[in-house]
Amino acid sequence: MQTHQYDVVIVGAGGAGMRAALEASSEVRTAVISKLYPTRSHTGAAQGGMCAALANVEEDNWEWHTFDTVKGGDYLVDQDAAEIMAKEAIDAVLDLERMGLPFNRTPEGRIDQRRFGGHTRNHGEAAVRRACYAADRTGHMILQTLYQNCVKQNVEFFNEFYVLDLIVDHDLSAGQVPDGEEVNATGVVAYDLATGEIHVFQAKSIIFATGGAGKIFKTTSNAHTLTGDGMALALRRGLPLEDMEFFQFHPTGLAGLGILLSEAARGEGGILRNGNGERFMERYAPTIKDLAPRDIVARSMANEVREGRGAGPNKDYVLLDLTHLEPAHIDAKLPDITEFARTYLGIEPYTEPVPVYPTAHYAMGGIPTNVEAEVLRNSDDVVKGLYAAGEVACVSVHGSNRLGTNSLLDINVFGKRAGRTAAAYAKTAKFIDLPENSAARVVAQLEEIRTRPDGERVSDVRKELQETMDANAQVFRTDESLKQALADIRVLQERYSRVSVQDKGKMFNTDLLEALELGFLLDIAEVTVIAALNRKESRGGHFREDYPDRDDANFMQHTMIYRRPLEFEVDTVVDDAPLTPKSAFTRSDRFDDYQVVLGSKPVTQTRYEPMERKY
Ligand code: FUM
Repeated sequence: MQTHQYDVVIVGAGGAGMRAALEASSEVRTAVISKLYPTRSHTGAAQGGMCAALANVEEDNWEWHTFDTVKGGDYLVDQDAAEIMAKEAIDAVLDLERMGLPFNRTPEGRIDQRRFGGHTRNHGEAAVRRACYAADRTGHMILQTLYQNCVKQNVEFFNEFYVLDLIVDHDLSAGQVPDGEEVNATGVVAYDLATGEIHVFQAKSIIFATGGAGKIFKTTSNAHTLTGDGMALALRRGLPLEDMEFFQFHPTGLAGLGILLSEAARGEGGILRNGNGERFMERYAPTIKDLAPRDIVARSMANEVREGRGAGPNKDYVLLDLTHLEPAHIDAKLPDITEFARTYLGIEPYTEPVPVYPTAHYAMGGIPTNVEAEVLRNSDDVVKGLYAAGEVACVSVHGSNRLGTNSLLDINVFGKRAGRTAAAYAKTAKFIDLPENSAARVVAQLEEIRTRPDGERVSDVRKELQETMDANAQVFRTDESLKQALADIRVLQERYSRVSVQDKGKMFNTDLLEALELGFLLDIAEVTVIAALNRKESRGGHFREDYPDRDDANFMQHTMIYRRPLEFEVDTVVDDAPLTPKSAFTRSDRFDDYQVVLGSKPVTQTRYEPMERKY
C-alpha cells in the first residue's frame, strides 16, 4: 500500500474536476485522481453549448437567465445559487476563451451564440441566443482546453486510479454526530488499475467531481463510466443525497440506442414531427415549441408514441427533421451528430428525418452543497474539508429539470468555486491523522469479489437493473411501477452479494472494476426509486401519472435521503409498509446492514414566486 499527502485532492478529471484543479493548484499542492485519462471524461460528450448572457447576438441579461433557470427547474431551484451561476457565467465563458477555447464566432468576430431549450428573452417572450458553442463539440473543446491548461500548470494527475472510499473522522452512517462536533474529511482510498495496488491519499481538502449515474438506465446518453461512484461513496459514509428522484431524459437520443443528438439541432432550426408528419410541439408549448425545456419535450414525445402517433414500423419513436436546413449549415454547425445518424442508423439527415426518443441524460440530484461547494451532512451543517461540484453535486441550480447548456456552465462556475474554497481551507487547516486501518474494509470487499470462485455475473445483474429502471422509473412513473423497480432492485442487491468475476488477476482487472461500479449503480438506483416513491406529485423531470399535478403545499422542498443503521430511529420515512424502518431492506452480505431514511431541506426562494409553468 502506498500513501500520499496533498493539500487538495480532487476525485474526477472531467470539466468540474479540472476547473477546480486549475484554481486550487495555483495556491496549494493539488492532485487529481481519475478512473480515466482526463481527456476521456464524459464532459467531452457534451455537445451543444455553454450558456451565458453575453448579449453578443441579441439583447440578453443575467436576470433573464436566472429566471429561466428557476422556471425551467419547476421552482425547486435554490434561487441564490441560480443567480450566482447566471452572473458568473459571463466570466466563466471569458475565462475559457482566454485559455484558448475556439468558440464559434459571429461575422464581427464575437463569440457566437445559439438558441437552446427554455432560454428566453424577457421572462418567456421568445427564445434567446444564449448558448456559446464550438460546433457540436463544445464539451470536447472545454475538456481539451482545461486539460492543456492543467498540464501547463503542472497539475499532478493519478490516471486510471479508482477511488474506493472516502475517509471521514466520524462514522456518520452510524447515526447522529454529537451536537457541536465537527466532521472532517481526511482522505480517500484508491485502487491503481494498472497494478491492483491500493493507495491512500491524505488531504486537507477533498473535492468530489465524479459526474453522474446515467448507467442506472439502459437507454442513456451517458458513457459506460457514469456509474454514480462519488454519490454512492458519500451515501455509504452516511452523507445525504439530495433530490435523487429527478433524472433528466434528453428528448433526442438516437432511437433504440440513446446516443445524444444535441438540442442544438433544434436550436439551429430542427423540428420534431410525429408519425403523421405533424409538428406536435405546437400543441404542448405554443410559444417556444421545440425549444421548450427538456422535461416537457421528452414527455410530449413519449405521449405522442403512447397515443399511437409514433413513427416507424412499431410507431415507437418520433422524428427530428433537419431536411429544410441547408447542408452547408448542417455541416458547419452540427457535424458530429449528423455523422452519428449516418453511422449508427444509416440515415442521411440532409434528406431524411432522424428517429429519436428520450434518453437518460443527467442527474439533477447529488451530493448536497452550499454555493461555496462545501458538502452538507444535513440541511444545515457542512463536512469540513469536503467539497463537490458538477453533476455529482446538488447545489441546487437545476431543481427538478436542468436547462440545456446549464451543465457546462455549472461545472465551470462551481468547479472554480470548489477549487478556490478548497484551497483557501487547506491553507489554514492541518492534516488530520488517518485511522490505522483506513483501507481495510474496502480492501476486504474487493478481495472477496476478486477471489470468489463463482457466482452471479456482473453483466447479468447490471442488464436486469437497467431494464427495470427503463421499464419502471423513466419519463412516466406510478406507485406501482416504482414499487416494481424497488422490488427488482432488492432482488438484484441480494444477487450482487454473490457476484464473482472471471478475471482473478490484479493488473488491469476491468472485470473487477465493473463489479465495483455495479455496486454503486445499485445503491444509486435504490435511492432514486425510494425518493421517487416518496414524492407524490409531478414536477420537472419527475412525472407521476398517479399524481399528475405539482403540489407546492406538500412538496416544495428538497428531498434528503440517507442510509442509517436499522436501529436508528427516524421521524420521516416513506410511509408505505415495505419501507418503514422496522422492515427496511437489509443487505445480505456481511458488510452492509442499513435502512434508507428520508428527510427534507427548504428551497431557497429570493426573487421569484412559484407560478404555473407555461411555455
Ligand atoms: O443537447 C445537448 O447538446 C446537451 C447539452 C446539455 O446537456 O447541456
